[in-house]
Amino acid sequence: MGRTELLFPDWFVWGAATASHQVEGNNVNNDWWAWEQAGGHIRNGDRSGAACDWWNRAEDDFDLACELGQTGHRLSLEWSRLEPRPGEWNDAAFERYRQMLAGLRKRGIEPMVTLFHFTLPAWFADLGGWTNPDAIRYFSRYVERVIEELGDLVTLWCTINEPAVYAFSSYLEGKWPPGQKSIRQMLRVLRTLMLAHGEAYRIIHALSGDAQVGLVKNFPIAEPARPDSAIDRRIAAQVDRIFNVLPMNAALTGQFRPPLGFGTVTKLMDSVDFIGVNYYTRFLFGLDSENPAGSLTPRLKPGAEISDLDYGEIYPQGLYQVLKRLQPYGKPIYITENGLPDADDDVRPRFLLTHLAQMWRAMQEGVLVRGYYHWSLLDNFEWAEGYAMRFGLIDVDFATGERRIRESGRLYGQIAQTNAITPELVRQYAPEAMPAIFGDG
Ligand code: GAL
Repeated sequence: MGRTELLFPDWFVWGAATASHQVEGNNVNNDWWAWEQAGGHIRNGDRSGAACDWWNRAEDDFDLACELGQTGHRLSLEWSRLEPRPGEWNDAAFERYRQMLAGLRKRGIEPMVTLFHFTLPAWFADLGGWTNPDAIRYFSRYVERVIEELGDLVTLWCTINEPAVYAFSSYLEGKWPPGQKSIRQMLRVLRTLMLAHGEAYRIIHALSGDAQVGLVKNFPIAEPARPDSAIDRRIAAQVDRIFNVLPMNAALTGQFRPPLGFGTVTKLMDSVDFIGVNYYTRFLFGLDSENPAGSLTPRLKPGAEISDLDYGEIYPQGLYQVLKRLQPYGKPIYITENGLPDADDDVRPRFLLTHLAQMWRAMQEGVLVRGYYHWSLLDNFEWAEGYAMRFGLIDVDFATGERRIRESGRLYGQIAQTNAITPELVRQYAPEAMPAIFGDG
């Protein structure tokens, strides 16, 4: 392809992402903790337990991120710590987050903060969580308090992490708490989450002058299992519509028009300053005539390269496709998550290089990508998959707490420090990716 190296702008943010419950440890006061203790919900019977012990030692890992040249970190706040009972605030928890945020800044790492990343305070879950008619009021009260307490330390805010993933997993597939299986509830929760996003956007801007507020959306590529089947094409298109188009359009155009007669929402108009893109994989959808509900179950492409434990296909072009699809909206974009489970790290270096090359390609064509946050900085509690899936640039031994930087972590560090992907780097870390990135030369 005749390129000599892929250069990124010097202002580009290179970071990694984490989420409170997955790393902090002992979040005993949320719905996930209860779900884990109940048994039968998590692979191998794992429980989050002490996780990466970030509540006590996040700074050790910030040091490693800093050593690896990272200039951004996306983390989330644990609502159940900050508001352990309705309307009661935990000052010590706010203080701990102040320390963490200041600690990141001190190391030259700009924090990006997510307000809701899947976990609910137990009291809110008991009230029905996002199905409670007052859910948005509860969430708004929390958001207001957070901005008052921490707003001076944060410019980049993410309101809701992956509203569609949450609604699907918790209310349609039932594999996350509260374990429901109802398409109506799923759509209702999705709609409420979008409204909550709109409220949070308004509150943050009212209280914090220089804030930039985004919605984080997971954009899987959805394709028909049998491309020549009209019904499979329709199913894939519907999944794409509900999962990808509906929530994003709601935030950008204010129009949320779900099926099944749920009302259109109009007050969301233009409620994002940036789009947070989580990109992992491509899924196929097709008619399952024996079990029609199974038609909505994502499938993997036969013969494709798949990451650990059948998590997903490795499909770097998908990142380019998603970015190009979002380009017409004209909003700045952060890749807020991208990664794979790869315990022995034999694929991650190539995964990183090929995905970053696709991002670079979209940037050359004018897509406004401002930063990239790899999922994840370190191995952590992967929800229903427990500790079996290892997403970290840093390996964690959960028995001893010991950290070990993976080769992919070092590679990412070099890219971050030089703002470049060079042929030398590709040859050193993933020579098999040379043709995809630099042609055969
Ligand atoms: C995302 C989620 C993260 C992480 C990641 C890896 O959907 O936001 O919390 O679990 O997937 O599967």
